[in-house]
Amino acid sequence: MKTKGIILAGGKATRLYPITSTISKQLLPVYNKPMVYYPLSVLMLAGIKDILIISNSSTLPRLKDLFGNGKHLGINISYAEQEKPNGLAEAFIIGEKFIGKDNVALILGDNIFFGHGFSNILNKAKNRKTGATIFGYYVEDPCRYGIVELDKNKKPIAITEKPKNPKSNWAVPGLYFYDNSVVKIAKGIKPSARGELEITDVNKIYLKNKKLSVELLDRGFAWLDAGTYDSLLDSALFIRTIEQRQGIMVGCLEEIAYKRGFINKKQLLERAKHLNSVYTKYLLKVANEKI
Ligand code: G1P
Repeated sequence: MKTKGIILAGGKATRLYPITSTISKQLLPVYNKPMVYYPLSVLMLAGIKDILIISNSSTLPRLKDLFGNGKHLGINISYAEQEKPNGLAEAFIIGEKFIGKDNVALILGDNIFFGHGFSNILNKAKNRKTGATIFGYYVEDPCRYGIVELDKNKKPIAITEKPKNPKSNWAVPGLYFYDNSVVKIAKGIKPSARGELEITDVNKIYLKNKKLSVELLDRGFAWLDAGTYDSLLDSALFIRTIEQRQGIMVGCLEEIAYKRGFINKKQLLERAKHLNSVYTKYLLKVANEKI
């Protein structure tokens, strides 16, 4: 069974106004890369090569300029429009044809993940043939997120979208793995009070059917969402700190493509030729097996 990937890069990001008045949030820099590099790197780390990027009409041309058809990364990228921010679950309706008979992972264009052993966690989620896998991340401010309540065996018992009185601190990050029935489920849910098709409502159905797995991203793992001025800056500083200390990049798409065998050394070097920055020098280091 194949797993395809969707990046949802829509929304108005009004909390970041005026930064986002002429550019979409997912294209803003997080230290040395556009934000959307990070979620794309997660799908690539999961070994997913067929990717649909969904965004609004003004951002789509810029994303196409940025990634093209993905050939230089050894992947296939296609694009689709979400006319209005109708919610995360609409991605499966927009992406129905793209998904076809396959399984699908969804990641939000502004979610940044970093942590040891992440590839293994991703593989575990991807290798589950049926049901859904969501993740849990312990946060200080659970009211801002979808929240999962766990029993004493760490199994999910309830999921709530932005609860006023949260019963748990386990937030559900914007990364989800589903079997093919997600398309039918998304078509069956109704818009919430905020007028959106909620991913939390999709997950509730999997939970009710006893088909929801939760992988906890434990201490030491970083999940950042760059949704406010401060978290945008914090994310950039976080990436800079890790990268400068180790000299290893986070979310370097060409590096992942090369190490996963999506592209060969010649293609990697070809890519380095077209760029002229610290990023290029890094690609040369990767090509020379120094990393
Ligand atoms: C969305 C989801 C929420 C999830 C969050 C992760 O929230 O609805 O369940 O925890 O993404 O970033 P939104 O960004 O739509 O407020």
